[in-house]
Amino acid sequence: MPESRGVALQLNGVRKTYSMQHRRIEVLRSVDLTVESGEVCAVVGASGSGKSTLLSLVGLLDRPSAGTVLYDGRPLLAAREDVIEEFRNRYIGFIFQFHHLLPEFTALENVMMPAVIAGMSMSDSRTAARDLLDRVGLADRTDHAPGELSGGEQQRVALARALVMKPRLVLADEPTGNLDPATGTAIHELLLQLNEELGTTLIVATHNLALAQQLPRCLRIEGGAITEGAAA
Ligand SMILES: Nc1ncnc2c1ncn2[C@@H]1O[C@H](COP(=O)(O)OP(=O)(O)O)[C@@H](O)[C@H]1O
Ligand SMILES: [Mg+2]
Repeated sequence: MPESRGVALQLNGVRKTYSMQHRRIEVLRSVDLTVESGEVCAVVGASGSGKSTLLSLVGLLDRPSAGTVLYDGRPLLAAREDVIEEFRNRYIGFIFQFHHLLPEFTALENVMMPAVIAGMSMSDSRTAARDLLDRVGLADRTDHAPGELSGGEQQRVALARALVMKPRLVLADEPTGNLDPATGTAIHELLLQLNEELGTTLIVATHNLALAQQLPRCLRIEGGAITEGAAA
């Protein structure tokens, strides 16, 4: 990893507790974490250990019960909801296990969506979306609806959609969990390649240790705490 490109993300004393009726589940106890700009990390841990919880906090989809999260040094959580929303749309790209593509729109329209929402012109949005679909190898599928694409192709569209705004931070939550191993490996490699080309910071939650161990950094969540390294 090149030196000192700056800190993209800093978590200090982050705690997340869910209250369910009379039970309190303490998912993250006190997480301190620094991720450098452009860094690629895997997050591993057993099912239910808190990987998705961590990504939803980092992705500003949910708030921690305590602690702070800084983005390029900025405490976004303290900002107004509309500022958070704009930041999320512009700076963060999400890729989920299930692609969440909109079935009534074409691949191209799905990829254009974040750009249009951000106020980019239709023609610029279309150009950016075509470029990304081209990069993920789907130049000849732009007018297909998600239902007319294979699972791997749908996930490649989701990848293009996550990257169309050239986000600084990409969060992928089990992006290959729903795919057969060969397709999963191909998606994983494509994600890393695009990440390198675009210089984004990438955090990938996965329960696939073999994939995780290929990444430069691997974090493990266990018992509500984060440790470095894949081994338990
Ligand atoms: N919205 C929620 N309300 C209550 N409990 C939740 C909620 N989201 C997650 N949990 C619980 O938090 C724990 C961690 O979940 P999650 O972050 O999804 O784990 P992972 O992604 O590692 O499988 C689990 O025990 C889960 O049941
Ligand atoms: Mg999960």
